[in-house]
Amino acid sequence: MKTIKLFDPFITKEEEKAVLRVLKSHFWASGAGIKNVKKFEKNFKKYINCDQCVAVNSGTAALHLALSLFDLKGKEVILPSMTFISTAHAVIMNGGKPIFSEIDEEILCLDSQKIEENINQKTRVILPVHFGGMPCDLKSIQKICKQNDLELVEDAAHAAGSEFNKEKIGKHGKAVCFSFHPVKNLAMPTGGLVAINSNNSKPILDDLKSKRWCGITNRKKTEYDVSEIGWNYYMNEFSAAIGLTQLKRLDKMNSIRKKIAKKYCEEIQLESKMPFEENCSYHLYWIRVKNRKKFVKEMNREKIETGIHYKPIHKMTYYKNERKLPITEKIGNEVVSIPIHQNLTESETDRIIKTINRLT
Ligand SMILES: Cc1ncc(COP(=O)(O)O)c(C=O)c1O
Repeated sequence: MKTIKLFDPFITKEEEKAVLRVLKSHFWASGAGIKNVKKFEKNFKKYINCDQCVAVNSGTAALHLALSLFDLKGKEVILPSMTFISTAHAVIMNGGKPIFSEIDEEILCLDSQKIEENINQKTRVILPVHFGGMPCDLKSIQKICKQNDLELVEDAAHAAGSEFNKEKIGKHGKAVCFSFHPVKNLAMPTGGLVAINSNNSKPILDDLKSKRWCGITNRKKTEYDVSEIGWNYYMNEFSAAIGLTQLKRLDKMNSIRKKIAKKYCEEIQLESKMPFEENCSYHLYWIRVKNRKKFVKEMNREKIETGIHYKPIHKMTYYKNERKLPITEKIGNEVVSIPIHQNLTESETDRIIKTINRLT
């Protein structure tokens, strides 16, 4: 019996050709040669209908750069604990303090009703995560930001192609951060992007472009200047070439994920599972089980991979504190991700559903 993988990138001959073209061009870094990175930025900007795009080499880099737009030293950022560690690291890397706020049990995104209890004089940014590609309650969060004069930065690492991401400026935070890690809906070897939404985006664009490459500005041939610190966060040409082909297919690939999610929603007999939502990209699909250790072991025996997204960040040694988040903690003990990707066959999804219904 073949093992069913949890995540699996979907590739075609087009990706093979694109990679070969870059290889043979001898221009592997961006900035010169065949300009796939520039083209990817242009095409992604058009696709999500944002103001500007800055491509980088990971979702972590995107979050680091986006939060660097605000002076976070001695300031606080409100975020969920139920997310990948990079969301919190990006706050620390910018000198800020992460304040973990409770999540909504239905969708595992920040509970907008509970954000305000964490706001004080030091709060500067709200950083929601669109968990699994499910849109968080952006409308309410934007209202809270406006009322309290706070910035909104979105972690959309799971949400490439979620329909709500294609809504025009004004509907989103100043920066929306994407990841194109190989398991993501739009897969690259490594990659990420900051989408900027602002009526005055040029200074933001210039700032992020400079920080993306070691703080370099005013480059003319061999001449350049450096007026601030920066990192080496440039996306490479191979990643961009793969991304360009994946982007053309993203809606189609996401519609396959959506179809699988709908089937899971209808046929998995568990009460607590990810709901169906047309607006979601379904980067992952989660269920909640009581005896997770035993369940995961039995799924393994049945050759069905599972994942845990996530162990709450405030439970990690580096971030441990006295703070109690009962809902996050309960879900953190029960949540399991099950396979969802474009390569799954109908008989495989049938097998997954049957096995889960038998084991739970
Ligand atoms: C919610 C979330 N934020 C940020 C990241 C970081 O992205 P990357 O792995 O591309 O650095 C990830 C990636 O797993 C993620 O899932």
